[in-house]
This record gives sequence, structure tokens and C-alpha cells, in this order.
Amino acid sequence: MKAVQFNETGGSDVLKLVDIPKPVPKSSEVLIKVEYAGVNFIDTYLRSGLYPVPLPCVAGREAAGVIAELGADVSPDLGLQVDDRIAVFSPGAMAEYMVADAKAVLKLPRDVSTKQGAAIMLQGLTAWTLCRDAHELKNGETALVQAAAGGTGGLLVQMAKSLGATVIGTTSTAAKAEVAKSHGCDHVIIYTEQNVEEEVSKLTDGKGCHVVYSGIGQATVQADMAMTRRKGTFVTFGNSSGAIASIKPLDLSKKNIRLVRPTLANYITEREEFLARSGELLDLVENGTVKVNFGAEYSLAEVGKAQEDLVSKKTVGKLIVKI
Ligand SMILES: NC(=O)c1ccc[n+]([C@@H]2O[C@H](COP(=O)([O-])OP(=O)(O)OC[C@H]3O[C@@H](n4cnc5c(N)ncnc54)[C@H](OP(=O)(O)O)[C@@H]3O)[C@@H](O)[C@H]2O)c1
Repeated sequence: MKAVQFNETGGSDVLKLVDIPKPVPKSSEVLIKVEYAGVNFIDTYLRSGLYPVPLPCVAGREAAGVIAELGADVSPDLGLQVDDRIAVFSPGAMAEYMVADAKAVLKLPRDVSTKQGAAIMLQGLTAWTLCRDAHELKNGETALVQAAAGGTGGLLVQMAKSLGATVIGTTSTAAKAEVAKSHGCDHVIIYTEQNVEEEVSKLTDGKGCHVVYSGIGQATVQADMAMTRRKGTFVTFGNSSGAIASIKPLDLSKKNIRLVRPTLANYITEREEFLARSGELLDLVENGTVKVNFGAEYSLAEVGKAQEDLVSKKTVGKLIVKI
């Protein structure tokens, strides 16, 4: 089968389109014929070595397609069958076939396509756990969402609005600000033209936000903390500008801020957690509360370009690879 693999860490040139044997599912796994795979920032962290993984490694963590084979011990209680349409958050997605733990696959309802499924497993579940688990967003709260025209940010804005929050988004350009507004942002700050801290202060009567959601990392950490109100929550969930070097616990005491640094996997470790949050997410997509805004579509041969585009700040919405 064809797969995109890296044998060493580095730039996007370490990604190679290779022919490798189709994986064989273990007894508790399923073999998936992949139709779409999602492009995510984590792909770049794994490839660059920021998040170490054993090599060689097939790229990609998010996919959807159909079940091609069931392992011998996959429990009938899971209700899975060959040809079921499913989505999965699991390694090895940038390939014609992948294997995944049967307990980690999500059956897609009729109204959710495999393209949508591949787009929401990682960014969608992340965004939903950010506003349900990292900080349980309440009606009437004010949330700041950095990169509000991006994949995760765009979904997070829609979810935060559905929970009754006032949402302030940030983007780098006016064109992206329009995208952020279409997601439902009440206010958008273009950070290349405006002072974000000053604007947030004006919009919140100097109090700051109940929660700041930032996947930017090092470049905005000081501003993110400054824009979090007294007893508010600063959720730092990514490193798109680089990993945060250090935060001093004493700095949190200036306003009794709660600091949360979540990763999706640790919110859905237990099957009950996975089923609860993914079921809620599918409901949001099926009933139209959350819409996936697709950006560019790529082929397997273009995965390196897709990763370069994602880190270039030029993209909006969800980048997807059609297998
Ligand atoms: N913790 C988790 O489990 C988890 C899961 C999923 C994603 N994440 C994190 O969420 C963040 C967003 O991921 P995504 O895949 O949805 O990407 P994305 O938001 O679609 O793209 C990144 C956006 O971040 C903004 N940005 C600001 N400074 C940047 C910089 N120095 N380099 C690159 N981009 C910069 C850009 O928007 P502007 O042009 O508007 O600035 C860019 O378009 C990443 O940090 C990722 O690691 C974390």
C-alpha cells in the first residue's frame, strides 16, 4: 500500500511517499481502508521531533474510512462490522490502510460523511473537550479564542457560542477576520493591526476574559495570561509559535489564574469518556450547530506541502488529505 512515512526527524523533506506492506490488525484491532486523513499541527511536532516517536513512523493521527477487517477478538458489543463507515484518532493515518484499537473507532451516522468525520476527530474533539473539560464554559462568560479562523479555533468559536459565551477571536488578517466572524465571533481583533491586550481590556471593562484558549504557545503566553481575568482560566493547548519555555507559578497568584495544559488523548482515555464526548460532537455536527469549514484538499503525495501550508499562517479551516 502507499503511505507517507518518515525515517528521521526534520523538515517536511523527511516525509516520503513509500510502498509498504498493508498493516495486519491485532486481535483487538480493526483494519481501516482510509478515505480521508486530517492534517494537524501535531503531524509537524512528530515530524520535527518536538514530540518524540519511534521511527520509522507513518504520518497522520486522524482519519475516516471503512472497516476492511475485524481482529479475531473484537467484541460484538462494540457493534462494528466490515464496511462500517468510521472515524478514528490514531497513528498511521496518512496511508491507504491503517489499524486502530476497535474501542477507539467512532461509527459515523448516515448524515456525517467520511470527509467530515476525518475533519472532526482530532480538532473537533479537542475543541469540544477544551470547552467542556479544560474549562467548563458557562452561559454569559467571555472567551478569547486565538487563531479563530483556524481548524481548531473555528470549531471552538462555534462551540463556545453554542454554550452561550461571548467570543472574542484573533486573526492575522482582515480576510481571516471575516472567516472568524462567519464562525460566530462577537468581536475579532486583527493582531497585526491592533493591540490585542488593549482591545480585550476595552471589550471586558478592564476585567479580562473568563477563559483564554490559546494554541499559539510562546509568542502570546504573556498576553494570554494578562488577558485572563481574576479567577479565570488560561488554557494553553498548543505550540504553533513554539513551546512555552516557562511559566512561574507565582505569576498565577497575581490574579489567582488557573493554568491548564491539556492534550486530547488524556480526556478520552476511558471508553465512556470517548463515547460521551464524541457522541456530543456528532450531535453538534448532525444538527448543524457546528459546521466544518474546509480549507485546501491534498493528495498523499502532497502531505509535506500540506504541513508546510499549515505552519505558514496562510491557511483557514480544516486541511484534509484525500487518500
Ligand atoms: N492539545 C491538543 O490535544 C491539541 C489538539 C489539536 C490541536 N492542538 C493545537 O491547536 C493549535 C491549532 O492547531 P490547528 O491544527 O487547528 O492549526 P490552525 O489553527 O488551523 O493553524 C494555525 C494558526 O495559528 C495561527 N498562528 C499564530 N502564530 C503562528 C505561528 N507562529 N506559526 C503558525 N501559525 C500561527 C495562524 O492563524 P493567524 O494567521 O490567524 O494567526 C495559523 O493559521 C496548534 O497549536 C495545535 O498544536 C492541540
